[in-house]
Amino acid sequence: MAPYGPQGAQGSHASSTGQSLTEPGWLDAHFEACRTEYEAMLSWVGIEPGWCVLDAGCGSGSYIPFLAELVGRSGRVAALDLASENVAFVEEQAPRWGLACPVEARVGSVSALPYPDGVFDAVWCANTTQYFGDEDLPAVMTELRRVVRPGGLVAVKDVDMNLLRLYPADPFLVSHLSEASLRAERVNAESRGSLRGRELRRWLERSGLTEVRQWTALIERWAPLRPVERKFFGEWLAYLAGLAEERGVPEKDLATWRAVRDPAAPDNLLDHPDFYACEGQVVAVGQVPPADSRSPGDGV
Ligand SMILES: C[S@@+](CC[C@H](N)C(=O)[O-])C[C@H]1O[C@@H](n2cnc3c(N)ncnc32)[C@H](O)[C@@H]1O
Repeated sequence: MAPYGPQGAQGSHASSTGQSLTEPGWLDAHFEACRTEYEAMLSWVGIEPGWCVLDAGCGSGSYIPFLAELVGRSGRVAALDLASENVAFVEEQAPRWGLACPVEARVGSVSALPYPDGVFDAVWCANTTQYFGDEDLPAVMTELRRVVRPGGLVAVKDVDMNLLRLYPADPFLVSHLSEASLRAERVNAESRGSLRGRELRRWLERSGLTEVRQWTALIERWAPLRPVERKFFGEWLAYLAGLAEERGVPEKDLATWRAVRDPAAPDNLLDHPDFYACEGQVVAVGQVPPADSRSPGDGV
């Protein structure tokens, strides 16, 4: 998943906030296409039964049933999102999910979390910090850390667009788009955030978390695609193709991008019998240090 910008463009699957790729239909398709790897990434965090966990930037709530399963009957899940309709969607769906524990959803921002200090055992923040530029990320990290108790966990997952690879196509097809996005006249935070995934470990360390570890997962899919994978890659590549037109990628790449936007095109990559796509997602986890090891002025 790559935001990359621009906000609110056609085919950008934007929610009411204007951020691209944030509306529930898109988020559900993405999650279903990548469920195996995404649930493995969440399992790897180390969330324990009985914990109270915040899903920060919960989107359509795709992770909530599994989070509830991990914390079990004695645990609790809180969910927060900037887009009010995403929160409404979660509230509407939750009774149908048959959750193991209560879930409470609310509207808010990860840059000013509406919770007291240290109330959670862990925070799970998936594909949300990628919407922030480097200058704003430290404040978000401070917030995520603030609401977790000493000894608890902060887990951040983001895409790394440098790992997206399509076949059969020029091996540099996506690299050209990444480069063009970063060099665009008005680079937005999302362009940078989408390329920062494998740096997350260092950002967590810099925020004062300890025992930081990181796992980069490659999500590889081959033709024949399952219908949900066809839907996800079809929508995502069409979105990226729109950006390629705007951002000034090399002329020779445009034929490939134009074909992925056109379901009837005979050379549409998605219909190629050898189609392969590899998406890279990164999860970094750190521990909030014990209260007595915090130094004054470290921001929490
Ligand atoms: C790409 S979606 C990921 C949703 C979900 N975590 C998932 O992985 O399926 C990013 C989500 O973060 C939300 N978001 C963006 N900026 C936010 C902010 N400042 N505070 C809280 N949520 C935010 C968006 O509304 C959207 O639901």
